[in-house]
Amino acid sequence: MVDQAFNPQSSAKVALPYHHPFAVAPMIDWTDRHCRFFHRQLSARALLYTEMVVADAILHGDRDRLLAYNAAEHPVALQLGGSDPLKLAAAAQIAEAFGYDEINLNVGCPSDRVQSGTFGACLMKVPEVVADCVAAMKSAVSVPVTVKCRIGVDDQDPGPALDAVADGVFAAGADALWVHARKAWLQGLSPKENREVPPLDYDRVYALKARLPDRFIGINGGIQSLEEAANHLEMVDGVMLGRAAYGTPAVLAGVDSTFFGAPPAPTDYRALFETMADYATRHIAASGRLSHVARHMVGLFHGYPGARRYRQILSTDANRPGAGAEILWRALDAVDLSLASAAA
Ligand SMILES: Cc1cc2nc3c(=O)[nH]c(=O)nc-3n(C[C@H](O)[C@H](O)[C@H](O)COP(=O)(O)O)c2cc1C
Repeated sequence: MVDQAFNPQSSAKVALPYHHPFAVAPMIDWTDRHCRFFHRQLSARALLYTEMVVADAILHGDRDRLLAYNAAEHPVALQLGGSDPLKLAAAAQIAEAFGYDEINLNVGCPSDRVQSGTFGACLMKVPEVVADCVAAMKSAVSVPVTVKCRIGVDDQDPGPALDAVADGVFAAGADALWVHARKAWLQGLSPKENREVPPLDYDRVYALKARLPDRFIGINGGIQSLEEAANHLEMVDGVMLGRAAYGTPAVLAGVDSTFFGAPPAPTDYRALFETMADYATRHIAASGRLSHVARHMVGLFHGYPGARRYRQILSTDANRPGAGAEILWRALDAVDLSLASAAA
């Protein structure tokens, strides 16, 4: 953890109206509403992204199920998937009415399902379509509209490929561009491999920021700690953590003091579990299951005495039919809290 609060004004960068120095990445199957509620207990200020939701699903599916969230999650950004400007605009408008603080367009996801729908990372090849989508979304909503993209796909040269997407979306009014600093290879790699195999190229994202000093450029990909995040913030405007935030959520406990000037404070794990137990009890009363909530908490005490037993309880006992929130307390009791709190 860095010693002092990061002060964006201390660098030479222009102060921008969109100010989100730290975000948790959109992750399908992971950053659902229960995960976001849990992450929000650890950081009051991080921008939290939803899983990607396909625009067609919002237009034709069960909106309440797809878009409902807890008011505590703000600021929360909805990520949309799609490539039809009219549908994206209509979906964005519905999402704005649900109270989302930002609408983001996915230009980075490489899964087969996404490729067959010609959206996600494939859109890196058609920057004019991405720009049309952003223009339509901007004209439909008043909240920020942002894009998350790769530096390129397949054999594209990341120089012109990323510049074309960036120039197009900013000309269309985008408020921010978050860049996963590696290519997606659309043939032959699984989505998981596409988050690991193509090499990271942070310099490409720094170069984009240097070329567009008055635009918000955020960086994502392979960032493991708040120290690393603070280093990136010397070069770009925002940092987005995905797997590190999900796998070791305790990292989020330092976000507010590191990036938002909040006084550093040890995490009160008993208070956190009070809140999560209350939340889980309400979820179970509404026909949910404890595991929907508990599964996101499994990595919390990573590396501390008792963490193995904690994980076991949350991943086995919490899955049993009828499991109640008392399982969370049982799991917490397995951890040596004196050490966990000291390390927060
Ligand atoms: C399980 C999982 C699901 C993901 N789903 C999405 C998604 O819905 N939309 C998206 O833009 N990126 C998605 N990603 C990619 C992440 O947002 C992020 O770009 C990537 O994991 C690299 O960042 P990291 O190294 O900090 O994890 C997903 C990643 C994971 C691990």
